[in-house]
Amino acid sequence: MTEGSVPRLGVNIDHVATIRNARGGFGPDPVRAAQLAIAAGADGITAHLREDRRHIRDDDMRRLKAEIGVPLNFEMAATDEMVAIALQTRPHACCLVPEKRSERTTEGGLDVIGGHDHLQRATAELTRAGIRVSLFIEPAPRAIEAARSIGAPVVELHTGSWCDALTYGETARAHHEFERLAIAAAAAEAAGIECHAGHGLDFDTARIISALPQIVELNIGHFLIGEAIFTGLAAAIATMRAAIAAGRNGEAASS
Ligand code: PXP
Repeated sequence: MTEGSVPRLGVNIDHVATIRNARGGFGPDPVRAAQLAIAAGADGITAHLREDRRHIRDDDMRRLKAEIGVPLNFEMAATDEMVAIALQTRPHACCLVPEKRSERTTEGGLDVIGGHDHLQRATAELTRAGIRVSLFIEPAPRAIEAARSIGAPVVELHTGSWCDALTYGETARAHHEFERLAIAAAAAEAAGIECHAGHGLDFDTARIISALPQIVELNIGHFLIGEAIFTGLAAAIATMRAAIAAGRNGEAASS
């Protein structure tokens, strides 16, 4: 993507599957949500197949790959099981994330330093299969340096701490966290690594972070699926796309 163009929007449909799984059975269908999201302007679809299958199931990944016409971003832990499923599914991209059974969502970025060799092996294996690998990392220069050493062409900066600080009105911490994101995005560009961002983003935070010129993709799920309850998914995605475009075009956030 050329600098100045609008960041791509990847829509994460995990929580449609969360609602489906609350009752078992087949509905609401995350693949139908993906198709609706694409019709509403999503540039890609993201789904996280967790080890415990708490939302997305193996068959969802298979159907997403077969039934959607935009890039599929397969979020996964770098385990042998998940690498094997990814090699079989052949998504456009894999985003490697840390995973703990007890967490409610992905807490923190990958341990790219302690897990260096393991992540390097998984990255090489997926890359050999033509899958673009991104590493979900904390916004820290040493994490960017480790990602470069691992050989990842893409990083996704974890925006969760920044979004949390804003949610709880911790202005100084929010300012500090945003600075970290800005510095990490610049460091990624300097290292020749494509920079994405995601976690906890809403209309306002998506708009603000889109002002960072190095960010080429945002992955957003929970807020959009929640907003869809009130406005419908298509309207939520249209408003999100407008917020991202406004942020990239230098328009101030609404709050
Ligand atoms: N990016 C990554 C790597 C994630 O793990 C998640 C959560 O599944 C997201 C983006 C989306 O986060 P949220 O659902 O909070 O928008």
